[in-house]
Amino acid sequence: MNQLKLRVVITGANGQLGYELCRHAPAWVELVALSSAELDITDEQAVSSELTRIDPTLIINSAAFTAVDKAETEVEKAYAVNRDGVAFLGHYAAGAGIPMLHVSTDYVFPGNASEPYTEDDVTGPTGVYGASKLAGERALLAVCPRSLIMRISWVFGSHGSNFVKTMLRVAEARSELGVVSDQQGCPTSAASVAIALWALADAYRQQGDLQWGVYHYSGKPACSWYDFAQEIFAQAGKVGLLSTLPAVNAITTDQYPTPAQRPAWSVLSSEKLHALYGVQPADWRTELTQVLEELRAQCTHKKPA
Ligand SMILES: NC(=O)c1ccc[n+]([C@@H]2O[C@H](COP(=O)([O-])OP(=O)(O)OC[C@H]3O[C@@H](n4cnc5c(N)ncnc54)[C@H](OP(=O)(O)O)[C@@H]3O)[C@@H](O)[C@H]2O)c1
Repeated sequence: MNQLKLRVVITGANGQLGYELCRHAPAWVELVALSSAELDITDEQAVSSELTRIDPTLIINSAAFTAVDKAETEVEKAYAVNRDGVAFLGHYAAGAGIPMLHVSTDYVFPGNASEPYTEDDVTGPTGVYGASKLAGERALLAVCPRSLIMRISWVFGSHGSNFVKTMLRVAEARSELGVVSDQQGCPTSAASVAIALWALADAYRQQGDLQWGVYHYSGKPACSWYDFAQEIFAQAGKVGLLSTLPAVNAITTDQYPTPAQRPAWSVLSSEKLHALYGVQPADWRTELTQVLEELRAQCTHKKPA
């Protein structure tokens, strides 16, 4: 194929990942970024008419209902976005003869393993969010054979809500906090996911095809939320985002009950993506430095002259 330009629709363009996809879009992309206000993916008619009007050569879906605890009570909404909306996009893509890149989650797994999860491992979500995302994966693969699903984990960035920003906010209000130390996973910067997705889009542009199906991509090394918080505070102190660092206590999941049960083991193996497309996991500690520097720059810009 080797098309000079791909016209790429990004859905959910104002989320953490959507923002980074727009920011890192390569020069060979004609970008059509659609926020939830511009395209509600649960509106089947709007999906069909808007995409027909735009006539993209590739869809990247970063729209999702990501509120893990809220999903336990807003079950219908979680499935409407994470399963039905994904199916509507996939249905359009299949009919138009174009591929779709989609994003899913480590929370499709039960979390009782001790080795990194591969794409062949048996799923078994512990909550509604993970179950709705898994249903979306299945719905997409059923309607759109040329779809690629990238499962990612513990996403953070300078735009949107995430654990890094929560920790910084808490540290401004409190001198001591407890963070869960018995859940292991891989923090992953939204920017690194965007870059990995663009690498796949480029491979498609060059070759006219991809090895479709499910892939894992996450940052390295694996750690607990407690380790992640410690690193956030250490680095935030160094870059001058926090003047005093809070004391962090390791606590267990039982000591921090949440409406949705989280998997204890959320470590993904990115080996398949590396072997087939040469995409390397990014070191989340380096990515974190970048994000904290961006946040510091935002603070500086906000201060009156
Ligand atoms: N965040 C994580 O830690 C994490 C971990 C693993 C996997 N993932 C997956 O990674 C992907 C990107 O997540 P993210 O962190 O970027 O999430 P995010 O920041 O919550 O962004 C999701 C975006 O989707 C939009 N959206 C929600 N409902 C929509 C609808 N009906 N139609 C169109 N857009 C809609 C939201 O818009 P509004 O804000 O206007 O509703 C928001 O801009 C998702 O597939 C998510 O499941 C995330």
